[in-house]
Amino acid sequence: MAKTLRLGIAGLGTVGGGVLDILARHGALVAARAGVKTEVTAVSARDRKKNRGHDLSKLMWHDDPVALAADPAIDVFVELMGGEGDPAKAAVETALKAGKHVITANKALLAHHGAALARLAEDRGVALNFEAAVAGGIPIIKTLREGLVGNRVGKVFGIMNGTCNYILTKMANEGRSFADVLKEAQALGYAEADPTFDVGGFDTAHKLAVLTSLAFGTEVNLKAIDIEGIEQVTLEDIRNASDMGYKIKLLGVAIAREEGIEQRVNPTLVRKGSPVSDTDGVFNAVVVKGDFVGDLMLEGRGAGAHPTASAVLSDIVDLARGNWRPAFGVPARDLKPYRAAPQMAHEGGFYVALELHDKPGAVAAVARILADEKISIESIVQRGKIEKDTPRATAPFILITHDTVETAMRAALARIERDGHVASAPRMIRIERL
Ligand code: NAP
Ligand code: HSE
Repeated sequence: MAKTLRLGIAGLGTVGGGVLDILARHGALVAARAGVKTEVTAVSARDRKKNRGHDLSKLMWHDDPVALAADPAIDVFVELMGGEGDPAKAAVETALKAGKHVITANKALLAHHGAALARLAEDRGVALNFEAAVAGGIPIIKTLREGLVGNRVGKVFGIMNGTCNYILTKMANEGRSFADVLKEAQALGYAEADPTFDVGGFDTAHKLAVLTSLAFGTEVNLKAIDIEGIEQVTLEDIRNASDMGYKIKLLGVAIAREEGIEQRVNPTLVRKGSPVSDTDGVFNAVVVKGDFVGDLMLEGRGAGAHPTASAVLSDIVDLARGNWRPAFGVPARDLKPYRAAPQMAHEGGFYVALELHDKPGAVAAVARILADEKISIESIVQRGKIEKDTPRATAPFILITHDTVETAMRAALARIERDGHVASAPRMIRIERL
């Protein structure tokens, strides 16, 4: 074999460890497919003494990942540390400026600085590859960048965070608490170093921002995303939704409308049996609507060492084969300026949970307010007082609406609260008809 592709890996945690595992197990297979031998020659992490289950004694060690990025002994810098800022950003910039290809799984970095980094890569004639950054082992980047080039994409949406999907699934199936399942997801290596990125919806937003750019050929725009996490979703909401034929999923949704692009991340009720509703646990699913291909759904493990490392390996082999494209599908300077659809353009059904004062006329008052706002009800569940021994002056009142505009829904809920019909703030979850 004529040449060796020399890799420098910064970050030897969940994903970095997974990459070392795959190369150790499938080195020959990867070399045969790549056409060249791929070899890790240098690494960096915080703690040199940590036992990582791999013999690193023959590799060059750098305490400073930026120094690794500049090391002439590597051809490709693989950034698996995470974080939107330094050292990840400085290291990636250093590698690109030094004319090295970069592979990263860091969606936070891409969502904040993706377009600038892509421009830098193109100026230096090197690749910026990031298959592992969105939806773990699912090859959605390649699908959008290559497989669907003959289509105009109108919508891309899906479950893009394994931690949240794992939490919501375990809460639904096992009745376990949010906090308990989150700890388990962390132990399994699914969660971000700071798990508020997962449960707060920010990680999904980072991924959505990247997919939106690829799908619609626009500049990455994280700030335009309306973000809501799953922290407020209760076991009761999950049970109510299930009784009414729905599951609750954290979805990222991007739609190209005439008025501009709509991007949002929020917990969503999806009808049981519809696409993505059966995607449970750590699995992710991404649906793309192309004008010629129609609907396409890709499903697979969205987090964890080996599925994510599998995506990193596909980037490595692409580089070895000389198969690399502009990072966001078109040259970064040709990305169109992002034009946002007006806020609140969303139209759809809503799940609403009210803690209604249990007194005559309360339901009628709520119904009147909804009618004033021209909101039509699909179904209603009123639960009686739950505990005999702890009498409540309120009763949970759950309703599902037919499609309506979000502004009307918000106005109605504000009025219900203002008029004193409820004991706590109403909870509202969007319904997506898929
Ligand atoms: P992780 O387990 O926390 O590992 C992070 C690694 O980076 C560790 O080896 C750590 O060193 C090293 N590191 C952190 N700060 C450093 C610094 N300042 N200098 C040198 N090394 C530093 O994280 P991970 O889960 O592997 O995630 C890595 C990246 O992949 C992130 O961008 C994440 O968003 C992305 N990602 C993760 C998954 C997943 O399922 N976990 C899936 C897709 C994408 P020590 O080991 O010495 O502490
Ligand atoms: N924390 C992320 C998740 C890792 O749970 O999906 C994969 O990007």
